[in-house]
Amino acid sequence: MNMNVPGSAAPALEVRNLSKSFRSGGDMVCAVNDVSLTVKPGEFVAVMGASGSGKSTLLHLVAGLTRPDEGTVNIAGTDVHYLSDGDLTLFRRKNIGLIFQAFNLIPSLTCEENIALPMLLGGAGPDPEKVNGLVSKLGLERVRGRRPDSMSGGEQQRIAIGRALVSNPSLVLADEPTGSLDSANGRKLCDLFRKLCHEQGTTVLMVTHNPVVAFAASRFVILKDGKLVSELDKRQCLTVQDLNQAYIEILEKDSPVAAGAGEVLA
Ligand SMILES: Nc1ncnc2c1ncn2[C@@H]1O[C@H](COP(=O)(O)OP(=O)(O)OP(=O)(O)O)[C@@H](O)[C@H]1O
Ligand SMILES: [Mg+2]
Repeated sequence: MNMNVPGSAAPALEVRNLSKSFRSGGDMVCAVNDVSLTVKPGEFVAVMGASGSGKSTLLHLVAGLTRPDEGTVNIAGTDVHYLSDGDLTLFRRKNIGLIFQAFNLIPSLTCEENIALPMLLGGAGPDPEKVNGLVSKLGLERVRGRRPDSMSGGEQQRIAIGRALVSNPSLVLADEPTGSLDSANGRKLCDLFRKLCHEQGTTVLMVTHNPVVAFAASRFVILKDGKLVSELDKRQCLTVQDLNQAYIEILEKDSPVAAGAGEVLA
């Protein structure tokens, strides 16, 4: 349930004791292990962790795409896993912009059509001005009429970002959104997220294993083996080097060869 403390804004996102295991061969893999996290409206939070630490699973649980074994996800007062599948789809369409790690574009639609798709699915009808604005902000003018299979990874990723933002969602869930972008486009995207948070009160939860990208956020949560092992903010990490150092120390604690650590500060 959403705890509404007098005098403080209700959380945009409240995750409580969330767990999810998968069967893999004969073994059970605990991808997310008893994670709790509260995010305020307008906050920009980076979720960091090595490969396989449960970042994508956590995002999918928050988006209601995966049902948890235990725990709750409350978005702006709604317990999403208490919703039926149909209601959850409508809720997600209205409130959440999801950028998948694997983009998940529709191959038969052009760049513009992919970006506009959530509007059409939501019954709002096309809004060419909004789509044009995103095409231009994301530098997609040259490929606006092309289909995904004729585009670079970075172009496809920017379309996935446009599609997630076109409906002005109050919560953006971004899974490695800069993974295929060059550093200039990565910086532009982080600036865009920061602007959305400050100017529109959008809440952003962004997965990345890269401290340079994560540093655009105001708070950093670190997952290790499915557990949330650390929460840091800009008071503890004044520079990207501070964040990088803290991140490597956390990843290497009790496991000297932590995948993903050390390759991070480009
Ligand atoms: N559908 C699934 N079936 C079985 N195991 C899964 C499934 N999804 C995830 N896992 C396992 O759960 C763990 C966490 O996976 P997840 O994709 O959340 O990691 P991640 O932190 O996003 O990694 P990466 O940085 O490589 O994207 C991994 O061990 C993965 O193999
Ligand atoms: Mg992932």
